[in-house]
Amino acid sequence: MSRLLIKGGRIVTAVDDYPGDVLIEGETIRAIFAAGTAPALDARVLDATGKLVIPGGIDAHTHLDMPFGGTTSADDFESGTIAAAHGGTTSIVDFAIQYKGQALREARDAWMKKAEGKAAIDYGFHMIITDLPDAVEKEMDVLVKEGVTSFKLFMAYRGVLMLDDGSIFRALLKTGENGGTICMHAENGDVIDVLVRRALAEGHTAPKWHALTRPPRAEAEATYRAICLAEMAGVPLYVVHLSAAEALEKIAEARDRGLPAHAETCPQYLFLSYENYEEPGFEGAKYVMSPPLRAKGNEEALWRGLATNDLQTVSTDHCPFCMKGQKELGQGDFSKIPNGAPGIETRMSLLYDGGVVRNRISVNRFVELTSTSPAKIFGLFPKKGTIAPGSDADLVVFNPNRKLTLSAKTLHQRVDYTPYEGRVVQGAADTVISRGEVIVENGTFVGRAGRGSFLKRKVRT
Ligand code: URP
Ligand code: ZN
Ligand code: ZN
Repeated sequence: MSRLLIKGGRIVTAVDDYPGDVLIEGETIRAIFAAGTAPALDARVLDATGKLVIPGGIDAHTHLDMPFGGTTSADDFESGTIAAAHGGTTSIVDFAIQYKGQALREARDAWMKKAEGKAAIDYGFHMIITDLPDAVEKEMDVLVKEGVTSFKLFMAYRGVLMLDDGSIFRALLKTGENGGTICMHAENGDVIDVLVRRALAEGHTAPKWHALTRPPRAEAEATYRAICLAEMAGVPLYVVHLSAAEALEKIAEARDRGLPAHAETCPQYLFLSYENYEEPGFEGAKYVMSPPLRAKGNEEALWRGLATNDLQTVSTDHCPFCMKGQKELGQGDFSKIPNGAPGIETRMSLLYDGGVVRNRISVNRFVELTSTSPAKIFGLFPKKGTIAPGSDADLVVFNPNRKLTLSAKTLHQRVDYTPYEGRVVQGAADTVISRGEVIVENGTFVGRAGRGSFLKRKVRT
């Protein structure tokens, strides 16, 4: 069995921070030794002096190879997972879509086909439910048993993805029986649709109108409604891509009342703002995503939420569309710009730089937000999300001092821009190990497309 010894690093988990050496045998962490005390072994040695050794990142919100907005997201499971690996992410949970009239298993199988033979890191699926007849409601139990233990529901995009409140409530009740988790896209879609129609009728077509027709209150209202529905069903809730301080208030209030309300935010809401939509010409289309970027000031509320645990995870909502040929579908009509932005590769460096380097969160919290907490919420812990004997050897040798200049030219995401072009960040993944295999070394991908395995996830505990 192959052996790898990571020597001389600073081992950081959600709770630990100490110098030590990690011994990997095959795909698994076998032992951890106090620094310099590992016995002489027949092992490949990786020198981690001056670096952090952290659990591989888990990105619980990606959209690879996903048809959306009249086109398909630009990264497939090969390019997207290789980009993720470069950034220090070793597991993703992607969203499979059940189209109207489809069985959930059909949708799951379709996404499995997209991932199998292509994914370079491990992957699981959430299931987006767009249609909930009784048979599909029953089928949720089957999916949970087979390791697809979370479901995304939309409160927006009527006629495409949106579910009515009754169906949302039934799905929530079902997770009370089977232990699954509901992930909610919380925006009041009907109000937004009225505002969009009115803006277009008044001749407002520029990208910034995407944001101006999706007010923060539409997110806060839906977040509160989702919390109330989950409370009445007596089940936990996970709100995805939370962007607005007003929505965060609703999560914080619920948690203060002792409700199991969880939420993620994403780097775009921490680093960008409404002002990006004011960039010249059609440039604002780069930032068209839902919920949209918010006014400056919201980001500090989100950073506080991350520090105080009102927000539990940072995922990417990686949903890349090229400006050329994809975003430009919405030239002359902002409502036709495909919604989504890239970020699978830049999450860990951005969060380390904005969070740890700038003293907003501790290094332990950085690990918790990017790995441990998503592993716990989505049924992967302790196989993933920590550094302990018996856990999968998903590890990153992370250089806390290396500076990166983010640019579409050097990133590996298959998209013709990055929202962070030219931004200098401190902190980067030097070496990335997935189940014992070095897959990124000195900035080069040395793994293999197709080596990733399906993650059969457990239910919440
Ligand atoms: O604009 C976004 N967020 N696109 C991806 C789909 C979603 O709602 O997560
Ligand atoms: Zn969403
Ligand atoms: Zn998403």
